[in-house]
Amino acid sequence: MALAWDETFVLGIDEIDQQHRSIVEHFSRFSDAVQEGSANQLLLEMADFLYNYAQTHFATEERYMQRYSYPRIDEQRQEHADFTRDASELKTRLQDEGASRELAAALTGKMVRWVIQHVRNHDRDMVAYVRECMTREQGES
Ligand SMILES: [Fe+2]
Ligand SMILES: [Fe+2]
Repeated sequence: MALAWDETFVLGIDEIDQQHRSIVEHFSRFSDAVQEGSANQLLLEMADFLYNYAQTHFATEERYMQRYSYPRIDEQRQEHADFTRDASELKTRLQDEGASRELAAALTGKMVRWVIQHVRNHDRDMVAYVRECMTREQGES
């Protein structure tokens, strides 16, 4: 699935938007490599990136959600846990089996779809809520 950064991904909290931009751009570079047939070299780098990304990015989002008592934090946590599991499974399989078309396909298929739907649905709702809280907070001070 081809993926490119565009304004439909912008949710309105700069720190979160920048992190989303980074994952979208990584995926986009990776799908170019798949088309050029050079994905195998990039797979290890992508697996490391995704694994680290999951730790940092989800921690960032959880910080906002906790600070403003987001009511759907459990759904977000569950989704984040699913992605983190997929990322660490990819890393392990890559170490055990080496790079393959099949692993590259898992990345460009399932994981890309997850990112698109998670950002456009779950994160969009969460950021809208957090922004409302932030605006209210600014009004009070
Ligand atoms: Fe996110
Ligand atoms: Fe999220």
